[in-house]
Amino acid sequence: MKILLIGATGQLGQTLIKTKPQNIEIVECSRSNIDLSNLELINDFILSSNANFVINSAAYTEVDRAELESELAYQINAEAPNAIANSVSKTKGSLIHISTDFVFDGTKNIPYNPKDYVKPLGIYGKSKAKGEEYVLKLKNNYVVRTSWLYGDFGKNFCLTMLRLHKEKSLAKQPLRVVSDQIGAPTSTYSLSRFCWKIIDSLSKSKIIPSLLHWSDAGVASWFDFAFAIGEIGVEKGLISEAAKVIPIKSDEYKTPAKRPHYSLLNCEESTNILQENQFHWRVELKKVMDEIKLKNFK
Ligand SMILES: NC(=O)c1ccc[n+]([C@@H]2O[C@H](COP(=O)([O-])OP(=O)(O)OC[C@H]3O[C@@H](n4cnc5c(N)ncnc54)[C@H](OP(=O)(O)O)[C@@H]3O)[C@@H](O)[C@H]2O)c1
Repeated sequence: MKILLIGATGQLGQTLIKTKPQNIEIVECSRSNIDLSNLELINDFILSSNANFVINSAAYTEVDRAELESELAYQINAEAPNAIANSVSKTKGSLIHISTDFVFDGTKNIPYNPKDYVKPLGIYGKSKAKGEEYVLKLKNNYVVRTSWLYGDFGKNFCLTMLRLHKEKSLAKQPLRVVSDQIGAPTSTYSLSRFCWKIIDSLSKSKIIPSLLHWSDAGVASWFDFAFAIGEIGVEKGLISEAAKVIPIKSDEYKTPAKRPHYSLLNCEESTNILQENQFHWRVELKKVMDEIKLKNFK
């Protein structure tokens, strides 16, 4: 089975490559093959790839910068997925497109269901919501929303916090982290497993919903996540000491883009229909820390 992976150099893309099942051949597509800000080449690339599935893990993910570069954010997060979906619809293949919890405004206080009304707060969320809308207009396309994604590669909260724990503990300074935004950290490894499960299920002609939620189990604030990164980082020998973590309010850490205060995703349908086990985010964090250790984190 052949998969065309768009966004191969990203943190999810890299984990998908690392975890691919044996029966799968991945054709990697990165910015050097196609710059998604220029859509001319997409159609030919997709048609000539002869892939059974296309996974689009590419995105404009700089949430704050998107407020200044809205045109580019819409181009990568909405127009490019639209073009990708249209090209895939000319083949016998299916598209799996990754989206985000930031399509919600966070005013709910129980987990968001896939069919809940979307109301993004910032340009990143708005551009991703538009991308979802385009992708879901066509048959054989699937959108997977995830939250607080991190892994052992690239730029993410976990690697940033590990470095900050090291720096701040050496300088005997505390680490101040927002505690009034609630969500679920999700490992690129668990999301990759879920993507492979979707592909396996579709290749066996199983019928699955076109809009799915996937996150690791449990609940956390960024403060809880930062605290656990320090604790487990020490346990795994990645850092010698964790910095003291102090909870602060979002108002004390102003960012250009507004973020939802609550963005838990209800993944019940995903676990039931696809029979994929969700593990607690701390369990997944420990596994990611093991991967970081293998890479000789400094
Ligand atoms: N990160 C999170 O916390 C989070 C949370 C929820 C959902 N998501 C979603 O999860 C998916 C994967 O995110 P991620 O964290 O793996 O993203 P990432 O590490 O930031 O990677 C983004 C990928 O998109 C590519 N890309 C960006 N602009 C491009 C362009 N103009 N042309 C071609 N490629 C371009 C990047 O290529 P280069 O390497 O060349 O820049 C990179 O491969 C995305 O759909 C994202 O919206 C992420």
